[in-house]
Amino acid sequence: MGQQMHLNLFIHSRGHHEASWRHPKSSSKALTDVSYFVEAAQTAERGLFDSIFLADTLVVHDDVAHAARTWLEPISTLGALAISTKKIGLIATASTTYMEPFNLARQFASLDHVSQGRIGWNIVTTWSVPAARNFGHPEQISHTDRYTRAEEYLAVVKALWDSWSDTSIIDDRTGGLYARTESIRPIDHSGNYYAVAGPLNVPRCPQGRPVLVQAGSSDTGRDFAARHAEAVFTAHLEMATAVDFYKDLKSRAKAHGRNPDSLIILPGFSPIIGSTEAEAKQVAQELNELADVEVGRKRLTGRFGGHDFSHLPLDRRLTMDDFPDPDSVQAARSRTEVIVGMVAREKPTLRQLLAKLAGARGHFTFEGTPEQVADELEAWFKAGAADGFNLMPPIIPWMLDVFVEEVIPLLQRRGLFREGYAGAMLRDHYGLERPQIAF
Ligand SMILES: Cc1cc2nc3c(=O)[nH]c(=O)nc-3n(C[C@H](O)[C@H](O)[C@H](O)COP(=O)(O)O)c2cc1C
Repeated sequence: MGQQMHLNLFIHSRGHHEASWRHPKSSSKALTDVSYFVEAAQTAERGLFDSIFLADTLVVHDDVAHAARTWLEPISTLGALAISTKKIGLIATASTTYMEPFNLARQFASLDHVSQGRIGWNIVTTWSVPAARNFGHPEQISHTDRYTRAEEYLAVVKALWDSWSDTSIIDDRTGGLYARTESIRPIDHSGNYYAVAGPLNVPRCPQGRPVLVQAGSSDTGRDFAARHAEAVFTAHLEMATAVDFYKDLKSRAKAHGRNPDSLIILPGFSPIIGSTEAEAKQVAQELNELADVEVGRKRLTGRFGGHDFSHLPLDRRLTMDDFPDPDSVQAARSRTEVIVGMVAREKPTLRQLLAKLAGARGHFTFEGTPEQVADELEAWFKAGAADGFNLMPPIIPWMLDVFVEEVIPLLQRRGLFREGYAGAMLRDHYGLERPQIAF
């Protein structure tokens, strides 16, 4: 853990509360209007955030009648954000299960050039079951197989990014030499899932490789992160599990021969901020009154890979028997562990559970004044739960603006957050080394 925390802004729908799209103070812009994303990224940059992040699930969800989502394809959207921001890092999800590694390596390397070194890739295996049918798979590929493929995928993508040296391009007009072919090499990969000759048709990118981000927290997901990730997003409903996760992941990274500081951990944090605690709680109540329990029920079914919760009454206390064993879930396994963990601890009714998940889908939610929010962030940071946070404003832009104007200055006054960007690239903001290659 460094002296100062890192902050990423997760831009999603009109905010992370499931009902944010209906709230009068969320953006009135269409969710296909790129200026909505540009403005949020610029606000985060004004707040000196390390990065912004766009997610992707590759499907239209079956709750679309009553739930708004982020529609624009994230890799293209990063292109627009790259030219409308200057310093902030830009991270997008792309799937190792449903995208060719050559295409992905090329797009992210290009974006790293376009943004002059500010790109990160959130590596996902795609937990969504119906996504499989959009890519020629009648059934979802199993959890184990998805991670096995992802392992080979990473080897291919890294080799492609390393297939040009930093000095391959000479561009000597007088002498007539454009590039040194001895420092552009094929990768000749032939494995169980992929056959890729290489080299990449993009010269080595400013960061060497885009920053590798990962967000799967199951046992298999953690091992994958410990080998490859440089930043990790993770969901926790309470600080205690975040502390355990932090210790576990750092020690796994060490066991793989890595410096634990070469991987930063960013749990989700979704604060409703008011000038008094009562005012914050009032906004929470407004949001909860706008939420639709049947949307929540469908989302629960999706997380558990299609498990049917339609017969469960809303107002009886839940038991563990109401849920499948997370180890058997092929979809979002670690999120099901978070949900089942909460049921074991707190024995909520289904209505209470859905209200909790409506806040930020299993990430930590908090209601309070700017001081209380800063105290909470400081407490997590100092307890060893986080190297920083994935800020998930419940309403965008409202709660993002309040965070930037009122919480950031408090964190700065406490010496917990930067006063300016020290470097120009995402690796500089996150304190990560540039990967070296030998030719
Ligand atoms: C902040 C955050 C963002 C995520 N974004 C995506 C995403 O964009 N697309 C996706 O398919 N999964 C996303 N996930 C889910 C993870 O990639 C992963 O599939 C999920 O946590 C289950 O992983 P596990 O099976 O290893 O537990 C995200 C998770 C977190 C915590």
